[in-house]
Amino acid sequence: MEERIVTSVNLGEDDDIEYSLRPQRLKEYIGQNKVKEKLNIFVKAAKNRKEALDHVLFYGPPGLGKTTLANIIAREMGGNLKITSGPAIERAGDLAAILTSLSEFDVLFIDEIHRLNRSVEEILYPAMEDYALDIIIGKGAAAKSIRLDLPKFTLIGATTRVGLLTSPLRDRFGVMCPMEFYEDEELKEIIIRSSSILKIDIEEAAALEVARRSRGTPRIANRLLKRVRDYSEVMGNGTIDMQSSEKALELLEVDKEGFDRIDNKILEAIVDNFNGGPVGLETLAYFIGEELDTLDDVYEPYLLQKGFIIRTPRGRVATDRTYKHLNRSRNLRNKDYKQCSVFKEAENK
Ligand SMILES: Nc1ncnc2c1ncn2[C@@H]1O[C@H](COP(=O)(O)OP(=O)(O)OP(=O)(O)O)[C@@H](O)[C@H]1O
Ligand SMILES: [Mg+2]
Repeated sequence: MEERIVTSVNLGEDDDIEYSLRPQRLKEYIGQNKVKEKLNIFVKAAKNRKEALDHVLFYGPPGLGKTTLANIIAREMGGNLKITSGPAIERAGDLAAILTSLSEFDVLFIDEIHRLNRSVEEILYPAMEDYALDIIIGKGAAAKSIRLDLPKFTLIGATTRVGLLTSPLRDRFGVMCPMEFYEDEELKEIIIRSSSILKIDIEEAAALEVARRSRGTPRIANRLLKRVRDYSEVMGNGTIDMQSSEKALELLEVDKEGFDRIDNKILEAIVDNFNGGPVGLETLAYFIGEELDTLDDVYEPYLLQKGFIIRTPRGRVATDRTYKHLNRSRNLRNKDYKQCSVFKEAENK
């Protein structure tokens, strides 16, 4: 897969700044107001009752601040944070070992929780519901099940694909937190905050311009900020202003919508090769040479959210916005599509 500057997935190079840029407290966390409000109330209530916070599930596209929030919750609750991920826990015994090592009010964060295997997942059910671990000792007729008590802990699950969670697991989370793309103004605030931590000089208008092209994602905003800084240090006077940010973003091939070549390739394929759609996601992935999962998780959510494509039962369809963006006009057959009920249903949703 081609490496993109506007991917919301952590590129490894993000690690060095992400750590220092992570807000430490809920008060410092910008945006995601609904999630923040919910957490604020539940954390306070749990602390007043001296109980562990109910289990929390964060779901949504990558780079929107799920891990950051897990860190914040652990800090607010005064517990330790233990981080693992679905694919890292191979056997039921691995999870049992992690669970028994927890202390009261600790937070266990399981990233990519949809990738837990079934036998591991079954250990989680009594752990989440009753703070208990059921262990089977012995074999065959002599086998006995014993129940161990676990400390009152909070499980935080994170997933980019909530649809893949089994319902028994999903139902055991008391606090469901859908993560949404950020508004431009919120990203601007994040960029200004990051600039002050990294001692970067940036004008407000330039911060907004970078924000606009960050696809609603703080991880991308911070990454673009770093690259734009490099540009203005070498090519300008070190201060990021409107001119240097625009030039740098142009050089990075990130357009006004925050799209790069691949996004535009996706949109062009739908319009030019599939006559505006509908085209199935699999066909599209194959056509542009990308993995289906990547298209589904990484590229498509933002294009959908911004109204460049819509999902219909028969596949993806390009909208008028896309035609305008690509500077194309619809041909007659596309006009027919606008009359077709599939398209109308989707637009009315
Ligand atoms: N609300 C926010 N305010 C300020 N910075 C933020 C915020 N949310 C995220 N960030 C920044 O974006 C970076 C990425 O966030 P984080 O690692 O929490 O995302 P994630 O949702 O866990 O991503 P992934 O799905 O890849 O695990 C963080 O290092 C942090 O610097
Ligand atoms: Mg994460």
